[in-house]
Amino acid sequence: MAEGSRVAEAPKLFDHLEAQASDSLLALIAMAKADPRPDKIDVGVGVYRDAAGGTPILRAVKAAERILLETQETKSYLGSQGDPRFVELMKGIVFGQGALSDERIIGLQTPGGCGALRLGADLIEKADQDARIFVGQPTWPNHAPLIGCAGVEMVDYCYYDKATTTICFDQMMDAFEQARAGELILLHGCCHNPTGADLNLDQWHAVAEVVSRRGLVPFVDLAYQGLGRGLEEDAEGTRLVVEAADQALVAHSCDKNFGVYRERTGSLFVKASTRQAAEVILGNLLGLSRTMWSMPPDHGAAVARVVLEDPELRADWRAELQEMCARIRSLRSRLAAYDPRLAYIADQNGMFSMLPLSSDEVVALRESHGIYMANSGRFNVVGLSDESVERFAAALVEVMDG
Ligand code: LMR
Repeated sequence: MAEGSRVAEAPKLFDHLEAQASDSLLALIAMAKADPRPDKIDVGVGVYRDAAGGTPILRAVKAAERILLETQETKSYLGSQGDPRFVELMKGIVFGQGALSDERIIGLQTPGGCGALRLGADLIEKADQDARIFVGQPTWPNHAPLIGCAGVEMVDYCYYDKATTTICFDQMMDAFEQARAGELILLHGCCHNPTGADLNLDQWHAVAEVVSRRGLVPFVDLAYQGLGRGLEEDAEGTRLVVEAADQALVAHSCDKNFGVYRERTGSLFVKASTRQAAEVILGNLLGLSRTMWSMPPDHGAAVARVVLEDPELRADWRAELQEMCARIRSLRSRLAAYDPRLAYIADQNGMFSMLPLSSDEVVALRESHGIYMANSGRFNVVGLSDESVERFAAALVEVMDG
């Protein structure tokens, strides 16, 4: 700047921004980290922990990383679709091998499940500015910002009654009966976040029936495939509703089932009525993603591809997933056996369950016992170590007894 010149007086661009509270889950991570108590228990964020409380890199992932280190020859751009082979392999994992030849289902790689959800919401908004999506409450707290950011209107209904720890199935079906043809319904494919309460197969059949009869468009969030009942079993509901639907979206994440959280590895699949329509959709998705992240990060997808293409690594990955599932199930059983009021936890799936606690009780657990969980009462079952599970259950019972 020339000597003597000064910055012009002008309205300050950012002065109208309002202070924003940080995302409650991110704030919780920071709070738990800052707590100096050595016996604190962090069951906030959804990260798998082993018996010793660590989150090690999976064997198959480490082996794939070694292979990549030795064999990868370039880090040049791959394009907006990401790694096409990864997308194809994921299509098989999500929809089954039989769907690989279904050209009405197109997909692309995204930065994690969040990227897939946001991109899907943007596509919906671009296709129809009056689109509405029916969202069962409670849901993952980031669903509303991700979908709302794109401008899609959300219609809430009750999915789960925290006090009775049961799914409000009738209310859900009533909501779907009120949706108009072409409207969207958000579904959790498995391991419902934040409640752990999944639809059973009969209920999935009923949802598939209403989807088909009323022409609804399912948008399935499948972020925990393989961490509930098993890799194939966890996809059963998604496959049923996608099969029943003329059009559908599936946001998939590898962050949890490959344990590559920070690599941000996901994909979005869209089913269209025809192959031609699917091609048009893919073109639009590539255009939209170009304006957000241009091209998705590669490493996690490259790792997943190497694992899935190598029969030995694939088998080892499946075995590790089963070990993770078994650990989650065993922690669930131990909690359920501790007190009859916790018995329902054994019947739920995945990393999360929701405790029927008030936010004051959640704060009391934090302050008096160093236990960190979401204010809603959601806790990460597998955030517990073998050593902390009894202490956690005892503290819960103490708070519940008032
Ligand atoms: C969670 O729900 O804890 C995870 O999906 C992490 C996140 O981004 O919220």
